[in-house]
Amino acid sequence: MIIKRLFSSSFRTQLMINNQWVNSSSGKTFKTINPSTEEVITEVQYGTPADINKAVDAARKAFDGPWRQVTAVQRSELLYKLADLIEKNKEELAQMETLDNGKPITDSREVDLPSVISVYKYYAGFTDKIFGKTIPMNGPFFTYTRLEPKGVVGQIIPWNFPLLMQAWKLAPALAAGCTIVLKPAEQTPLTSLRVGELIIEAGFPPGVVNIVPGYGNTGASLAVHPKVDKIAFTGSTEVGMEIIRNSGIHGLRRVSLELGGKSPNIILDDADLELAVSQSHNGIFFNQGQNCDAGSRLFVQEGIYNDFISRAVQCAKDRKLGDPFDPTTIQGPQVDENQMMKILNYIDIGKKEGAKILTGGKRWGKKGYFVEPTIFTDVTDNMTIAKEEIFGPVLSVLKFKTIDEVIERANNSNYGLSAGVVTNDMEKALKIVNGLRTGTVCVNCYAVTTEGTPFGGYKQSGVGRELGEDGIMNYLETKTVVVKASTDTLP
Ligand code: NAI
Ligand code: MG
Repeated sequence: MIIKRLFSSSFRTQLMINNQWVNSSSGKTFKTINPSTEEVITEVQYGTPADINKAVDAARKAFDGPWRQVTAVQRSELLYKLADLIEKNKEELAQMETLDNGKPITDSREVDLPSVISVYKYYAGFTDKIFGKTIPMNGPFFTYTRLEPKGVVGQIIPWNFPLLMQAWKLAPALAAGCTIVLKPAEQTPLTSLRVGELIIEAGFPPGVVNIVPGYGNTGASLAVHPKVDKIAFTGSTEVGMEIIRNSGIHGLRRVSLELGGKSPNIILDDADLELAVSQSHNGIFFNQGQNCDAGSRLFVQEGIYNDFISRAVQCAKDRKLGDPFDPTTIQGPQVDENQMMKILNYIDIGKKEGAKILTGGKRWGKKGYFVEPTIFTDVTDNMTIAKEEIFGPVLSVLKFKTIDEVIERANNSNYGLSAGVVTNDMEKALKIVNGLRTGTVCVNCYAVTTEGTPFGGYKQSGVGRELGEDGIMNYLETKTVVVKASTDTLP
């Protein structure tokens, strides 16, 4: 089936500062690559510290000026307008996402774009529901709190869900009344720039959203900028820790982080076998395994183990890899050569440390950064592939006997992002749910996250929560107002 391409070479490739499209101050550009063909799509302007400076100044001016005069209802209208424009252009955006990231077009169309639109609409509806409290004081005072926008926010996003991560960051920050400098990932800048065009078209005033593409050094200069009040980051734990360490340089910035994971997924003996196979398959292989909440440590109870493994291997073998623009493709390429090499290296380490490959284990094809869906068994807790985030289509299967044992082993990780349990016994499920130290636990499903559900991690998986009410609180400061009252106004 041939898809009519909705874009030609008319990509936005410049920086968006103050609602203007400008070149990098250095004149430097970087290539963005189609990961399924390894061909260059286009060259994008490479933001420098001087460009970040300009963008932050624009955001500061907008925050201290016109944006503070915009009412909650007007912010809501702007966000709904943006959601409508994304909806109107969703097929083009889905195709552009698939081109730049490599994810199958069916996922872009049916998962990413609908979720993006829902997130903008959810926060469009939140702007006038940001409530303070009235507080009883022991004395003649009228005391209340106001929730106010944090100010200028720097947002640094990854490449695994470019449009969706942009929505998770922009929507709550705009709803709260902040202004923003956003740095998209170097692998996938195209869709965020296209959304930039739609932001201008929706009528957001100049400086409210600024988009500066570039590499890690562009992000690093944003993360230490003295006029930035808050940094929101999604990406590797390593960079997240650097951002925390640097948050006190040139002032003090608030920080929220959504980082890596090595999430346990637990299949009990009494589980519905078919459900367990499909839940764990999608839990690891969806989006080429490039999910912070991937169920990459699969604990299977000994009674169901043999039946489960043979079905799970068959399911992985049946997974259809190929051209991501083919609507029947289920798995596309990894985002770039670095990620592919990282995954293949972990597969090597797994073999050397004594784990057994039941299917996959190699690069797929000669062109494009494809990796076969891979299942390792005989994995023990201390192996590298059971401890470190692989961020690819590689499943480590571990066997267990008792519930207490699996809770302890599942928690024995530096990470604590997500988890899953498959069972028909709700008492056992709840014992596991309450025992796990992770930000999310899904029972008889996996990684179900929608705009209203808080998302984030314990331990080294992050700081703070995105989405839902928690997501908007990330961008608000509490102001306490104490008004001296005369005693006769009191009850
Ligand atoms: P990364 O953390 O280096 O990149 C994420 C974003 O941070 C990109 O926009 C990047 O340009 C920016 N960045 C890089 N260095 C920075 C710095 N020093 N200061 C500020 N911003 C910086 O992640 P990368 O290299 O793309 O992937 C490495 C691993 O990180 C992956 O294999 C995966 O394990 C993990 N990862 C986790 C993600 C998640 O959703 N939690 C998303 C992407 C990667
Ligand atoms: Mg990196």
